[in-house]
Amino acid sequence: FSPKLKICCIGAGYVGGPSCAVIAYKCPDIQVTIVDINEQRIKEWNSDNLPVYEPGLDEIVFACRGKNLFFSSDVDFHINEADLIFVSVNTPTKKSGLGAGFASDLAYLESATRRIAKVATSSKIVIEKSTVPCKTAESMRAILDANSNDLIRFDILSNPEFLAEGTAINDLLHPDRVLIGSLTTPEGIRARSVLASVYEHWVPKEKIITANLWSSELSKLAANALLAQRISSINSLSAICEATGADVDEVAFACGLDSRIGPKFLKASVGFGGSCFQKDILNLVYLSESLNLPEVAAYWNQVVIMNEYQKERFTSRIIKSLFNTITNKNLAIFGFAFKKNTGDTRESAAITLIKYFLRENANVRIYDPKVPKEQIVRDLTDPEVASVEKFNQRVQMFDCPYEAAKGTDAIVIVTEWDEFKVLDYQKIYGEMNKPAFVFDGRSIVDYNVLKKIGFKVSVVGKAI
Ligand code: NAI
Repeated sequence: FSPKLKICCIGAGYVGGPSCAVIAYKCPDIQVTIVDINEQRIKEWNSDNLPVYEPGLDEIVFACRGKNLFFSSDVDFHINEADLIFVSVNTPTKKSGLGAGFASDLAYLESATRRIAKVATSSKIVIEKSTVPCKTAESMRAILDANSNDLIRFDILSNPEFLAEGTAINDLLHPDRVLIGSLTTPEGIRARSVLASVYEHWVPKEKIITANLWSSELSKLAANALLAQRISSINSLSAICEATGADVDEVAFACGLDSRIGPKFLKASVGFGGSCFQKDILNLVYLSESLNLPEVAAYWNQVVIMNEYQKERFTSRIIKSLFNTITNKNLAIFGFAFKKNTGDTRESAAITLIKYFLRENANVRIYDPKVPKEQIVRDLTDPEVASVEKFNQRVQMFDCPYEAAKGTDAIVIVTEWDEFKVLDYQKIYGEMNKPAFVFDGRSIVDYNVLKKIGFKVSVVGKAI
């Protein structure tokens, strides 16, 4: 009889929660406990109303919670009990100090690592799941080694997470690949095979790939940089399309048929958002600069610059179309999440666009099917976005898109929620000020239908 393998995941966020819930779901023989210092978050994970919205997540959590999946704020106890520890804490961009605005803030990661070093009374395999700059595993090792002895050893693995929010469960159940980075010492290889055996419960062996620690860490930054670069590339082309009469969707389709390019991730938009793309590129920029590679840094930085430019350009187009002023005009904002099928608003393009609209003294009426109102308040009253006074004066939030659009001059589609494709736009048109405008920042609605109704329509990447 061998006792159940025990996994502890530190950080019950968008990554730790879904990824370890899927491990529990697929590995009934493993006990998984997800811990967090944020007690409120743990309470929510233990309730009927999970703190993260992802299609399919509820079913998985409800199927295993209380059996082999647990959520706890007793961080120390579960660290000490575990054989494998995932570190899945947040690594945001530093706000101040050295590398501010670019480098990752590794304070949470370090404090979690120190916690492991302090409370562990038996050997552990520590797995870096958070996205981190190259060589972070080395710092973790230094902290852990300083606390190891003949009886306790720590092995460190890098196992970056490639899930995309909105499709997290599907990505976790059917990953393109699982990457495990380790030292190539016998101990490193042994640790790697323990983690691989967890994934082998459901991931085909050939999809579980290995690399050295630094390749593994860099692969995550590189993958996000390449993905974001594709979006900035198509967005840069959308500007040319709008100026010439080419249609960005037709251009993307024609290019995507080239098997070397491929069709995915070539959708023009108001710009990428989310907690990862910008942060990880800036991290890569910082890394390049610290390696004395300024040309490489400038190359990747341009991806972020283009993303900001896209949001400014979209705002200018709106203002220009609305007769060069949006002061005191009413704008309905359709969507606040950074993409569809998530309630996450981190770095959402909606925040930047609304910041610009408020600076012009427009009134905004927001509808999003999943983002809680308190989150919208938090995001828009950030001192970098708007004052509380301005927010109270100019912003309203609605539970229904039809209400949000009533009495407005324009609808701005910011998030590509499917429901925006099938709204009764005839009804909406009837209750708007005329001329009524739609600015489709995601190119999701049928603009011919809208035009027939009477709307004036502008679509990103089209000269209509
Ligand atoms: P998150 O902010 O949703 O969750 C992190 C959690 O860690 C928070 O609940 C926080 O309270 C907790 N935490 C921080 N320090 C702790 C400590 N010392 N002990 C216990 N708990 C602690 O962050 P998210 O989005 O889950 O991201 C986690 C990491 O995964 C980041 O490095 C991110 O870059 C990476 N990542 C995120 C993806 C995403 O789509 N959100 C995708 C792939 C990677």
